[in-house]
Order: sequence, then structure tokens, then C-alpha cells
Amino acid sequence: MQLRWDTEADTQAFAMRLAACAQAADATVTLHGDLGAGKTTFVRHLLQAMGVSGRIKSPTYAVVEPHQASGPLGDVAVWHFDFYRFDDPREWEDAGFRDVFASRGLKLVEWPDNAGPYLPVADLAIHLLTQADDSRLARLVPGTEKGATWLAAAKAGQAHADSSASAAPASNGDTP
Ligand SMILES: Nc1ncnc2c1ncn2[C@@H]1O[C@H](COP(=O)(O)OP(=O)(O)O)[C@@H](O)[C@H]1O
Ligand SMILES: [Mg+2]
Repeated sequence: MQLRWDTEADTQAFAMRLAACAQAADATVTLHGDLGAGKTTFVRHLLQAMGVSGRIKSPTYAVVEPHQASGPLGDVAVWHFDFYRFDDPREWEDAGFRDVFASRGLKLVEWPDNAGPYLPVADLAIHLLTQADDSRLARLVPGTEKGATWLAAAKAGQAHADSSASAAPASNGDTP
């Protein structure tokens, strides 16, 4: 599935659709794309939609930032990984990442390629590409049955929102 997100609000809207589905409580999502493509931005909106409160900082220096979500799906453990600087395979065992990926919860992974063969198959891979007009092209690729079901459910929500909000202005012009 391929989507175009003209603004960050579009990115947020899709993150909210994914977060509204039961699959979000136990899944692995990988985020691919260059620096600035919007991986962390997507994660932040997903975490907020899941009911993670407080400051959401980027885990770049810590590899992983754990969160606890309390939202419509109940209490969900959420791990935000960023393997941008990950280069020591032993750390996978030492830091207990194997156990994290084997446990129930939402695992969000930036720079998954740097984790090499240790990472389990992702339920959903999100590839982000910055376009010349600064919009984002999002390619969503399910890697498991669960991911395919999740994506279909999120897409169904999207169609509903599109038909009910088609007359809404795309932006209020605010730039923070
Ligand atoms: N449609 C969009 N979706 C996501 N981010 C966007 C979008 N348009 C502009 N941006 C901006 O691009 C930047 C993406 O940064 P970030 O999420 O940290 O990227 P990454 O984690 O991929 O390096 C943010 O400043 C965000 O506000
Ligand atoms: Mg990032």
C-alpha cells in the first residue's frame, strides 16, 4: 500500500488509524528512510495515539526508549528502538533485546537494517521517502498475516475518514 502524506497532520492521521486497531498491542513495526524522512515523527504520533503521556524523546543515544501506553487498547508496553548507532551484535543479547522482541507489546524500530539478522520479521514495514515538494511518500509493506490484517483495518478506517472529512481544509496555516 502506498500513501502520500502532504503534511505532518496526514502522518499523524494514519498513525492514529494504526493505533486504533487491536494489532497495535502486540506487533513489530520497522521504519525505513533517510534522516529527516519522518520516522521519529511517525513514532511520536503513534505513541501519543496509544496513550503514552509525557515527553517522548528520541532514543538515538540509548538505542531503546521504553514506554507504557494506557489508552483504548488498555495497558500496552511500547519499545521505541533506534539502531542508528548500533554496531555491536553482542549488545543484542546483553541488553535483553531478544526478550523484548519475544514479549508482548509494540516494538517500533528505526534503522532496522543495522540490527542485522537479529531482528525478527516485522509485522509491518513503513518506508518513508521525502518528495521534492516536502510531502512524504509512505510505502506500507506487511511482513506477516497479522500485519496484513492490521493494514487492512487501518485502511478501512482511512476510507471512512476520507469520506467524512473530504471538505475539511488541509491545514490551518499554523507553523510552530
Ligand atoms: N508529512 C510529514 N510527515 C512527517 N514529518 C514531516 C512531514 N512533513 C514535514 N515533516 C518534518 O520532517 C521532520 C522529520 O524528522 P524526524 O521524524 O526526526 O525524521 P527521522 O526520524 O526519519 O530522521 C520533522 O521536523 C517533521 O516535522
Ligand atoms: Mg529518527
